[in-house]
Amino acid sequence: MDYHGRTVVITGGTGSLGIAVVGALIAAGAACHVPYRTETEARTFPHRSHTQVILYPQIDLTDEDTVARLYQQIPDLWASIHLAGGFAPGRLAATGKSILASQLDMNLVTCYLCCRNAVMAMAAHSTGGRIVNVAARPALEWRTGAGMTAYAASKAAVAALTVALAEEAVKDDILVNAVAPSILDTPANRKAMPKADHAAWPKVEDVAQTILFLASPENKVTRGAIVPVYGRT
Ligand SMILES: NC(=O)c1ccc[n+]([C@@H]2O[C@H](COP(=O)([O-])OP(=O)(O)OC[C@H]3O[C@@H](n4cnc5c(N)ncnc54)[C@H](OP(=O)(O)O)[C@@H]3O)[C@@H](O)[C@H]2O)c1
Repeated sequence: MDYHGRTVVITGGTGSLGIAVVGALIAAGAACHVPYRTETEARTFPHRSHTQVILYPQIDLTDEDTVARLYQQIPDLWASIHLAGGFAPGRLAATGKSILASQLDMNLVTCYLCCRNAVMAMAAHSTGGRIVNVAARPALEWRTGAGMTAYAASKAAVAALTVALAEEAVKDDILVNAVAPSILDTPANRKAMPKADHAAWPKVEDVAQTILFLASPENKVTRGAIVPVYGRT
C-alpha cells in the first residue's frame, strides 16, 4: 500500500493499536497527524520525533469545537482513522448513567465528531477519501457483550454510524469502514488476563495492516464493512 503524498489523521494514535497503525503508515509513506490528550502517553510514543509525524496536544475529542479546529488545520486530508476509545466492563446493574455516558462519549461521540469533520474536509477538496472506525466484537455479536453492556451498546452505535455514513459519503467518493477487534494482544490486556492464550489474540501489527488497506487508495470498492479482526479467538 502506497501512502506517499497522503495525509492521514489517526485519533488514539498514541495508544497501543495506534502505535502500530502510525508505524505502518510511516513505513507506507504517509504524513501522520496525531492528536492526543495525555502528556504521559505522548512522552512514551515511539514515533513522536519522526519527520512524518505531527502531534497535536491537548485534544479532547469529545469537544465539538476542539475537533472542528483540529480538522481545519489539516490540509488535503486523505484518510481519517478513528482509534480513540476505551473499555468499561460491568453488568448492567453495576453500570449507572455516568458510566454509560462516559462510554458513549469515549467511543461514539469521539468517532462521530471526527467522522463529521473528516467528511466535511474531504468533501471540500473533492478528491475523495477514506475513513476507518474501530468497533469491537460485541458490536457484531451482541451476545458477547454480556458483562460489558454499556461498552457493547457504545461500540454497536459506532458500527451503525459506520454503515449509515458509508451510504451517505459514497457520493463524494469517501469510503467508510470499520474493524471489529476481539481482545487485542496489548500490554494492558496481558496484564489484566495473565493466564489467557495470548498467542491466539490478534496482534496490533496485523490489525494495523487491515486498517491500512481499508484506508488506502488501493481500497476502491469496499464500504460499510465492519471487518472482524479476531485472530484465532
Ligand atoms: N484493546 C482491545 O482489546 C480492544 C478490543 C476491541 C476494540 N478496541 C478498541 O480499539 C481502540 C484502540 O484500543 P487500544 O487498546 O489501543 O486502547 P488504548 O491504548 O487505551 O488507546 C486508546 C486511545 O484513545 C484515546 N482517547 C480516548 N478517549 C479520548 C478522548 N476523549 N480524546 C482524545 N483521545 C481519547 C486515549 O487517550 P488517553 O490516554 O488520553 O485516554 C488513547 O490514546 C479503542 O477504540 C478500543 O475501544 C480495543
